[in-house]
Amino acid sequence: MTANSGIALVDLDEDGVDRAFRADVLAGLRQRQKAIPARWFYDEEGSRLFEEITKVEEYYPTRAETEILTAQGEAFADLIGPGRAVVEFGSGSSVKTPLVLRAIDPAAYVPLDISGDFLRASAAALGEKFPDLDVHPVEADFMRRVRLPDAVAPLKKLGFFPGSTIGNMVPRTAVDLLRSMRATLGADEGERPMLLIGMDLVKDRKVLEAAYDDAKGITARFNANLVTRINRELDGTIPEDALEHRAVWNDTLARIEMHLKATRDIAFEVSGESFSMKQGQTIHTENSHKFTRRSANMLLLAGGWTPVKRWLDSEERFSLILAKSTEQREAP
Ligand code: AVI
Repeated sequence: MTANSGIALVDLDEDGVDRAFRADVLAGLRQRQKAIPARWFYDEEGSRLFEEITKVEEYYPTRAETEILTAQGEAFADLIGPGRAVVEFGSGSSVKTPLVLRAIDPAAYVPLDISGDFLRASAAALGEKFPDLDVHPVEADFMRRVRLPDAVAPLKKLGFFPGSTIGNMVPRTAVDLLRSMRATLGADEGERPMLLIGMDLVKDRKVLEAAYDDAKGITARFNANLVTRINRELDGTIPEDALEHRAVWNDTLARIEMHLKATRDIAFEVSGESFSMKQGQTIHTENSHKFTRRSANMLLLAGGWTPVKRWLDSEERFSLILAKSTEQREAP
């Protein structure tokens, strides 16, 4: 069914522990500024908590982007047109994806995700909503070039990457991803592909910090769940009650940073290795970069994409950008 089926994407050791998870956590905890990549938030409970975050009052990005997708259907139809293969980087959202599919009348839909279970469930749900659409789920790590199913090879492509997930990467990783997307979508093989991408905007620090530190404490639980996961999967003894959620705007790097801050001196083990933290020391768990019109354009251009059109929601909090793969030319 999938172009990459049969390849084990998660490498487990003899005890069933994800080797990449252990390597990232141990390497991150050995650093002076402790840091763990945000991708490890998303175990089952983390994914469930993220869904909850998208509904809290203070977290505007999901609502703002959905507003744009709902309002701009006609513009998508004009600028993108029918008959494309929509390649979604990530499993697809039950709300956002149908808005795009309905607007542009595509010939096929290809969700790409590293998590096979998630992918199959969301592909099946979409198949029910769009019974005439060819759906080709591909289990793959989209941070690298992915070979798409032969059935969609002749079609023009539209990449779809909503949610401002690009903002969770530092700029050089974001540029690498944008280039991988170009390669996946066949930028060098014929018709230039397009990309529809969500990018959250720089705004008032209070609004941003509240979005990542909601009053109900859902984001705090999402952050803390990473420690619960480490303790469960990596034989950790991290005292969860001694770490508190912090979300701070870093104005120099234009990003919200999430940290877990030690409220007292602590010592603990993870996978048999000993670590300690002084009161006030933090584990850096996530970056969420925010963009201006200019910084969004610069990032896209560096990644091989030329912006074509930009839409904002009514409160100008979030941007959705349509870009076209940049034509390769000799330098002037
Ligand atoms: C998935 N990603 C775009 C979210 C964000 O806004 O950076 C993850 C998130 N972390 C805390 N709240 C939401």
